[in-house]
Amino acid sequence: MTRTAIETVVFPVAGLGTRFLPATKASPKEMLPVVDKPLIQYAVEEAIAAGARTLVFVTGRTKRALEDHFDMAYELETELAERGKQDLLDKVRDVLPEGIHCVYVRQREALGLGHAVLCAQPLVGDKPFGVILADDLIDAGDRPVLKQLAERYAATGRSVLSVESVDPSRTRQYGVVEPEKRDGPFQPIRGIVEKPAPEDAPSNLAVVGRYILTPRIFKLLETTAPDSRGEIQLTDAIAALIDEQGVDCLEFEGRHYDCGSKLGYLQATVDYALNHHELGADFAGFLRERVRSL
Ligand code: G1P
Repeated sequence: MTRTAIETVVFPVAGLGTRFLPATKASPKEMLPVVDKPLIQYAVEEAIAAGARTLVFVTGRTKRALEDHFDMAYELETELAERGKQDLLDKVRDVLPEGIHCVYVRQREALGLGHAVLCAQPLVGDKPFGVILADDLIDAGDRPVLKQLAERYAATGRSVLSVESVDPSRTRQYGVVEPEKRDGPFQPIRGIVEKPAPEDAPSNLAVVGRYILTPRIFKLLETTAPDSRGEIQLTDAIAALIDEQGVDCLEFEGRHYDCGSKLGYLQATVDYALNHHELGADFAGFLRERVRSL
């Protein structure tokens, strides 16, 4: 198998984000900011750090804010330049580095994550690609998870996805893998099940929003039957891919925030604020006071 570098990353961003209504009424949940950057920007930075040059956004109803975020903001930039606000101008321009290409495709119906990935096929073509679910925010320091997956793919040519151990009571929220062994960060997987009940889960290793997939996944998605809710699950196509080509998982080191839930989003906000170079110290002072008065 030829091992092309991962040049394309797909961002499924068509979800309704109902858990954050009304904030997500007119804007995708991936535009929610953690301190001063929207979730999607953290995801895009991770993709670029892994070598991506083409970013494919699979959008839904509320795509405008996303397109505008990664577009040139001509009036804003002119105004900031006229006022001599170079630092702010840099922040605006740094949203999308030179040479990175954004493309948008619309998922017309909410038919599941597998269907969203399939919508990206014409833009990805016959190449391996990454997938990032932006509401899974991961702070892995200087070892971004997608980069680790891309390095693994370069070494093996096999699809690979990120996992973390979760409390067994939470398997119903995730795709759950059956690893061959558990004696190192990367393991081949024997199976994967979407959102199993704790008693049916093959392990407590849950899939967390980062994938490198070979293009074979598209053929398998085309023939994946919808689940009981009418959704085509990426997990089911990955299960078929295991039999054909083998799939690995990475139990990554780092902190995962489920920003699709209000609690996870607030936890991310607190931690990223504490680590923020401008306001970390002041925010820590505020938090200390607040905790004392609880
Ligand atoms: C999706 C996937 C699931 C994965 C999860 C990670 O589920 O279907 O396998 O574990 O993302 O966040 P969703 O959260 O969209 O229900």
